[in-house]
Amino acid sequence: PKIVYVDSGGEERVVDASAGESVMSAAVRAGVPGIIGECGGCLSCGTCHVRVREEYVDQVGEVGDMEDDLLDLAVGDRQVNSRLSCQIQMTSELDGLIVDVPDEQV
Ligand code: FES
Repeated sequence: PKIVYVDSGGEERVVDASAGESVMSAAVRAGVPGIIGECGGCLSCGTCHVRVREEYVDQVGEVGDMEDDLLDLAVGDRQVNSRLSCQIQMTSELDGLIVDVPDEQV
């Protein structure tokens, strides 16, 4: 499934993820600027903050409790569609997912 990462300037980077891979690890593998994923996805760094485009918010599911706490501390202002990308696993249904990368994180 493809993931589209959009930076604050509107530049898009399309990454081919594998099913089961997180939105964070696909970005790190492809070198997408602004997604650092310092903790490797164990919910302790908050450097994988993205904002999920509205049309995909329902599909990516709910924010978990620990994720919720950490999002408050993440770099970049938290918005209603903010998520930690290490907590979003790709599935074929999510193909074409579009996320915005906060520019503070770049
Ligand atoms: Fe550290 Fe997501 S990679 S919280």
